[in-house]
Amino acid sequence: MATMTVFAFVLLYLCYFQNVTGVTEREVVDMLLTGYQKEGRPVQDPTQAVVTSLDVFLIQIVKLVPQRQVLIVNLWLLQRWKDDFLSWNPAEHGNISSIRLGINKIWRARLVHYNRQHEEGWSKTPDTNAIVRSNGEVLWAYPITIHSTCVLDIVNFPFDVQRCPLKFGSWTYDASSLKLLNVSVRGNMDEFIENGEWTLMSFDLEVNHVEYSCCPGVLWDDMTYTITIKRRSKFYVLYFVSPSVLMAFMAVCGFWLPPDSGERMFICINAFLSMIVLQQVANKHLPGTATTIPLINRFMGVGILLVFASSALTILTLSLLFKTFDLQPVPKWLRRIFCLGSPDPNIIRLAPEVSPKKVDANVLEVTELEDMDATFATDRAKATSQLVRRARKVLLQLKEEYDMMSRYEKIQKEWKIVAGKIDRCLLIAFFIALVVISGAIFGPSG
Ligand SMILES: *[C@@H]1O[C@H](CO)[C@@H](O)[C@H](O)[C@H]1NC(C)=O
Ligand SMILES: *[C@@H]1O[C@H](CO)[C@@H](O)[C@H](O)[C@H]1NC(C)=O
Repeated sequence: MATMTVFAFVLLYLCYFQNVTGVTEREVVDMLLTGYQKEGRPVQDPTQAVVTSLDVFLIQIVKLVPQRQVLIVNLWLLQRWKDDFLSWNPAEHGNISSIRLGINKIWRARLVHYNRQHEEGWSKTPDTNAIVRSNGEVLWAYPITIHSTCVLDIVNFPFDVQRCPLKFGSWTYDASSLKLLNVSVRGNMDEFIENGEWTLMSFDLEVNHVEYSCCPGVLWDDMTYTITIKRRSKFYVLYFVSPSVLMAFMAVCGFWLPPDSGERMFICINAFLSMIVLQQVANKHLPGTATTIPLINRFMGVGILLVFASSALTILTLSLLFKTFDLQPVPKWLRRIFCLGSPDPNIIRLAPEVSPKKVDANVLEVTELEDMDATFATDRAKATSQLVRRARKVLLQLKEEYDMMSRYEKIQKEWKIVAGKIDRCLLIAFFIALVVISGAIFGPSG
């Protein structure tokens, strides 16, 4: 069976060759490459420049690596030039009008990507075939993945637009020996595959003639394509911006809670920690530069400050609320600010330094009882009067203590009202501050 198959194949092969008469492609290639020198420029007149046209197809944006500031793209490069030493007459060569030649066998312009950032170095061009036409026209297309340096502008992160240039040109041929030609006004986007993270806005082209400081008076052609991409910010809004906005609002809303419930500090500290964690995670998507502060970090920074301030002010109101040591009446200026009205006369009448514990029965003077003493003559009456005196003394003392306590409670109650009012004011102030700051930071960029 196997020998039969081999036999059949040999038969087919022979039949195939029997049918082909005349010139094979190999003969054309032999004819072209015999004596071909791939290093000299392929022009009959050495004073003329080789005209190389370049077309760049943007196929895919693979990734933008923020830490390395590198854009990785897949491109198809299409170069076209005329090689005077690669032409033949098809009529004399079996009507073969075009052949394929390995690019390493013929001359090429060796255009380089100036701003590439590969670890392996400069030359990593796939050795694909070039199509050679009988009139000497060479068409060479190849796919390539390029790591191109791209200085990121992260001020508006996550609503940023990045412009990444790709500069192509010859490294050794100046404009007098190699002329670069564009085939269109902008880069080719026909084969573009959409990217999940970036929206392609434009793929522009600029043809430059540059004089470098190395070689005065010599111009060099280059073609600079610029990829403009806009970040799809939905992901970042969903996972970073909205949680941090909500977190800041929650910390502000904490002022709505009664301060003595103890929940408020809990909310503040939780919001504080969450914001810091969110900021750390968001920073993973940014290059480690300190020249500009991105939008999201500015907002988070302000949010963290707000949360911190609200924690600090919570401590203040709590300290007002549970004020027991050295309790003073609410000062006049605070009363005026919070419209507490005039203070209770009881609070004013007694010296503020006196605290309830200091009240001593011995201090009290009961003068009218002394006057009554004289009118009682008998021992019994004396004893009775003494009893009455004691009783009144005790009663007076009790009344005094009661006054003290009620005054103390009134002062405390007033402080509580002040604390509550401060809370309301802070709630409104922080709320306005948050809205204004959010608007100022996110408003202009959308
Ligand atoms: C080449 O093509 C011409 C016209 O198409 C034809 O007359 C001629 O026979 C062809 N030559 C060969 C070798 O096939
Ligand atoms: C090449 O680019 C220039 C602008 O840089 C433009 O004016 C010209 O039309 C382009 N050539 C072609 C063939 O589109």
